[in-house]
Amino acid sequence: MARSGWLLGPALLLCLGLPVRAQEDHAYTAEQIQGGYRLYASQCQLCHGLNGDGVAGTSLSRQQFRFVTTDADIRRMVTNGSTGGGMPPFSLKDEEVDGLIAFIRSGMDRTGISFRLGDAARGKIVYDRSGCAACHRIAGQGARIGPNLTDIGFLRRPGQIFTSLTEPIKATMPINRPVMIVLKNGRTIKGRRYDEDTFFVRLIDSDERLVSVSKGDIRSYQVRMDTDMPSFRGRLSDGELGDLVAYLTTLKG
Ligand code: HEC
Ligand code: HEC
Repeated sequence: MARSGWLLGPALLLCLGLPVRAQEDHAYTAEQIQGGYRLYASQCQLCHGLNGDGVAGTSLSRQQFRFVTTDADIRRMVTNGSTGGGMPPFSLKDEEVDGLIAFIRSGMDRTGISFRLGDAARGKIVYDRSGCAACHRIAGQGARIGPNLTDIGFLRRPGQIFTSLTEPIKATMPINRPVMIVLKNGRTIKGRRYDEDTFFVRLIDSDERLVSVSKGDIRSYQVRMDTDMPSFRGRLSDGELGDLVAYLTTLKG
């Protein structure tokens, strides 16, 4: 039983990369993102698809662009259409384009999870009083037991963040999973993987120390399939959860 919670996974850990950060990083309000979503569904989805990958070579949700880089580029593309002619110009109000940009930049939350993004300012208060900082760090404040949330809004879509809060076991990213390393000398180290290169794995151990382990010394390297992240479903109201997700969505490093 205890064993079935573990899976061997070094190969998986080795191939994770981070997306390239866009040049501009604004914080968007929940209202903008939601407005953008409605407009996207009616004006853009036909070509760009439900998940933003309908046009070959472009993924709007994963921020993989061929023609645009900055928010201003996206604005120009929407307003003028593409020079290639594949995309028509749209005559939209400034706020409408802002909403579309916010929706695209927030990673297009189309996971179908029914929750409502709330108010980011209230969400920060929920964060501060829910004990999150006992495990997480934002902009240098807090602990290192859980992943750093400083740019969580850039890395994850709102729906994924919501799932992390309500059903953490479903949302856990391989990179965040707790690992257990057994060294050739018999010593066992448990913690959360911090980073890794060709020769070393670095872990944050349960005492929050950064431990560097030479790969040559490792006998086994296992990734736990359970999680230390508590579920907040029932502990926070739907409104509080919506506010909290809105706050976390604004964290873009
Ligand atoms: C008729 C189909 C169509 C519609 C509708 C459409 N697009 Fe496009 N869009 C394209 C094509 C095709 C491209 C790639 C450029 C080209 O081939 O001309 C593109 C490119 C883009 C790009 C740049 C992608 C990159 O890789 O750099 C963005 C951003 C974009 N569209 C956003 C939107 C938004 C927002 C809307 C809704 C307001 C929208 N598009 C509506 C077809 C469309
Ligand atoms: C007891 C420690 C602990 C507490 C308290 C805690 N978390 Fe976590 N959290 C974790 C750990 C550990 C993970 C990594 C997931 C795993 O274990 O697989 C995580 C994962 C997450 C993730 C997903 C991160 C990612 O990279 O996708 C989010 C978002 C998150 N927590 C937010 C919160 C918020 C907001 C609170 C407070 C309401 C909170 N957590 C409270 C330990 C904690």
